Amino acid sequence: MISVVTTKVEVLGLLPIAGRTAVVPTMGALHRGHAALIEGARDAVGSQGRVIVTVFVNPTQFGEGEDFERYPRTLESDLRMAESAGADVVWAPTTDEVYDTDGVAAAITVDPGPLGTQLEGASRPGHFAGVLTVVAKLLLVTRADVAYFGEKDYQQLTLIRAMATALDLPVEIVGLPTVRDDDGLALSSRNRYLSAEQRVLASRIPTAMESGTRAATHGAEAVIDAVTAALDDPGLDIDYIEVRDTDLSPAPPFGAARLLLAVRVGDTRLIDNVAITLGGAS
Ligand code: PAF
Repeated sequence: MISVVTTKVEVLGLLPIAGRTAVVPTMGALHRGHAALIEGARDAVGSQGRVIVTVFVNPTQFGEGEDFERYPRTLESDLRMAESAGADVVWAPTTDEVYDTDGVAAAITVDPGPLGTQLEGASRPGHFAGVLTVVAKLLLVTRADVAYFGEKDYQQLTLIRAMATALDLPVEIVGLPTVRDDDGLALSSRNRYLSAEQRVLASRIPTAMESGTRAATHGAEAVIDAVTAALDDPGLDIDYIEVRDTDLSPAPPFGAARLLLAVRVGDTRLIDNVAITLGGAS
């Protein structure tokens, strides 16, 4: 039976175990993508280990006018999914429990550096400071040995890895591939905002990424042109389409790279990315 805890004291008081602790940080509204992370975590630490799933809709990573208020909160079904995927503990804290500091301490955050102002960070100022600060706190309180994140949030994963290196956090960061619906749309808690008509439009995103992948032999510009053309529809509002190196520095002329995009479908902002290989066309 899964344990549900809310306070830091309860997390710190979990009984010692022989194995490692794996943590899967989430904002809840769990779907098959989260289940894959929890299953990966369970496999990694085995029966001697402990898998903790955190469920916390973190206010500091949402900007003004974003969807903090309407973000789905589905704790009961999250508990069932976490348990069946192999979690031992769900930590679902309140905001006051996570941010229980005041004065000087309340103003201390993790600075994501220049990458934090690019791609997602350009459209969502302050987003990555909020993400990195809460992830650092969640991993430290849970004393995570290993933590699992999805590649769907590729820039988030890149920055969390960099933070663990920069701050010497004693935790291994593992990224797992994006889980997709049958038509290729990346699973996201935000997909539930889409109407039936918008859901059909959204399925053009993975198709466009396939066009981009095919164009990659002709270079980064060709990738961007192909994706832009494939997303040309009045119902789709492109925020960015970019090709970067795998560490999100500027794209190399050829070799391994990443195609990343953000598109608005109505009020819903969807992001996705895929590994591509640039160059090779004669
Ligand atoms: O990816 C998410 O769900 C969130 O950004 C995370 C990592 C749980 C931090 O709030």
